[in-house]
Amino acid sequence: MKKIKLLPFYAMLLMLAVITAVSCTKEGPAGPAGANGTNGTDGEDGINGQDGTATCIQCHDNSQVMFAKINQWEHSIHATGGNYERNGTDCAPCHTSQGFLERMANGSMVTEEAIANPNPVNCYTCHDIHKTYTPSDWALLYTGAVDYWHNPTKAITEDFEKGNLCSNCHQSRVVTPWPVVGSTDTYTITSYRYGPHHGPMANLLGGFGGYEISGTYTFSDSPHTTIQDGCVACHMADAFGVELGGHVMNVGYEGTLNESGCVSCHPDGIEDETVAMQEEIHALLDSLGAKLMDMSIMDNTGYLLGDDGVNRASSSNPANLTANEAGIFFNYKFVEEDRSGGVHNYKYARAILTNSLEAL
Ligand code: HEC
Ligand code: HEC
Ligand code: HEC
Ligand code: HEC
Ligand code: HEC
Ligand code: HEC
Repeated sequence: MKKIKLLPFYAMLLMLAVITAVSCTKEGPAGPAGANGTNGTDGEDGINGQDGTATCIQCHDNSQVMFAKINQWEHSIHATGGNYERNGTDCAPCHTSQGFLERMANGSMVTEEAIANPNPVNCYTCHDIHKTYTPSDWALLYTGAVDYWHNPTKAITEDFEKGNLCSNCHQSRVVTPWPVVGSTDTYTITSYRYGPHHGPMANLLGGFGGYEISGTYTFSDSPHTTIQDGCVACHMADAFGVELGGHVMNVGYEGTLNESGCVSCHPDGIEDETVAMQEEIHALLDSLGAKLMDMSIMDNTGYLLGDDGVNRASSSNPANLTANEAGIFFNYKFVEEDRSGGVHNYKYARAILTNSLEAL
């Protein structure tokens, strides 16, 4: 049998006994409290901070107002038109949100570079969103009178108040060369896209910028020229679903007219009269278009033909036109591209079309 070494075992037992004896020792009574430390001077009370989201929720609230506007805008051509891919330096100022803001800030007709990640016309294009982070950011950007790009026929600038916002984009582009009424010069045009471009609404509403050739009618304006807030009064009247009015900004939809912007002045309704007037203007346009095609000035898609009378105008096939030929082609494009069928300014539209027809 092996002999067990007991010495380490006794040593361990002894240590355990010591530990047990120490932990059983009772604590003595607490000593007297020490002297108080010297008090520092109290800090000044801070100013109460504002609730970080107090002003945000005046817009981002649960009234559903913002949702309604967003929903309307989402169904508007501004959001769905798709042409904001036109982000080149000379297109971006009207076709992209960023290009517009850049142009308005520096007064240029072009952007410095093509706009990367282009956005369509949206809340940030028209409102001062997230500038002060308060509801005053609903303020409309740029409502000052517009210095029109193409305005050879009126010395004054028109003022459509809130509608000026729209006019900055919905105006004719620069037209070169611009024919002078009565001139015997020959005008050489090298682009088949000659004309005001697609948005000359402000020019027709204000009654300026046409080739004002004389004839049966003198040039005067319909009372619509002076409607307070111009475009906004008719196009942003009470919304009808997401088809008409409000931030959809359409007045007409599939043959229905949103009369809520008209009734203050036309209390008995104006739809029938409007349709009749639009038919009259469209008939004038059709006659003028047929005449321009007969004369081999315009092709059947509405573009300018070159001198060969077959192909569209270009630098290798320019159109050399008299002042009247160029101006009358322009007048056709002007009223056609305005697309209101004369509602914007019946008297002016009727005068430029009728007088043009007479001159051909
Ligand atoms: C004048 C009203 C208004 C105020 C005030 C406001 N916002 Fe906005 N906010 C908007 C609008 C309009 C949008 C864009 C909505 C859209 O396009 O869906 C937006 C969008 C946003 C978005 C989505 C991301 C973006 O930038 O599009 C966030 C996040 C946001 N706001 C946070 C805030 C915060 C935080 C505050 C306060 C510090 C605030 N907002 C104050 C109107 C406001
Ligand atoms: C930044 C330039 C810009 C501003 C500002 C602007 N628009 Fe537009 N608008 C456009 C462009 C570009 C289109 C065509 C969009 C597309 O096809 O992608 C358009 C389309 C429209 C259309 C639809 C036309 C159609 O084809 O049916 C209406 C209506 C309209 N705008 C009215 C307005 C009104 C009213 C205002 C002012 C409250 C306004 N716009 C402000 C650039 C602008
Ligand atoms: C002065 C502002 C302005 C400039 C600059 C401009 N556009 Fe436009 N453009 C408009 C407006 C406004 C409309 C929308 C008209 C409408 O829908 O009634 C439009 C519409 C269009 C359309 C749609 C036409 C259609 O019939 O559906 C195309 C395509 C287009 N523009 C191309 C261009 C190109 C390409 C450039 C540059 C070379 C350009 N635009 C420069 C204002 C402008
Ligand atoms: C093309 C320009 C344009 C765009 C884009 C636009 N708005 Fe507006 N908005 C206006 C105009 C103009 C008014 C004033 C209408 C009036 O006075 O009848 C207005 C008014 C408003 C109002 C009422 C403001 C107030 O003072 O009570 C709200 C809210 C609003 N817009 C929200 C939005 C939101 C959200 C978006 C983006 C989804 C948006 N808007 C996009 C032009 C625009
Ligand atoms: C007197 C009311 C009135 C005013 C002011 C007005 N419009 Fe119009 N606009 C109309 C009517 C009505 C139509 C034709 C709608 C239809 O027949 O479908 C129209 C047509 C248009 C169209 C063609 C697309 C569409 O919705 O049919 C555009 C774009 C347009 N207007 C923009 C403008 C702009 C921009 C301004 C300001 C410069 C303006 N309008 C001022 C009533 C008005
Ligand atoms: C601020 C007032 C005002 C508003 C808003 C208004 N109009 Fe007019 N409109 C007039 C006046 C004034 C006349 C001229 C009446 C006359 O000569 O008997 C007129 C005439 C017309 C004419 C006859 C042609 C012409 O121009 O002389 C049509 C069509 C017409 N309006 C349609 C409309 C439509 C559609 C709307 C709404 C989208 C509208 N108007 C909104 C004041 C207005």
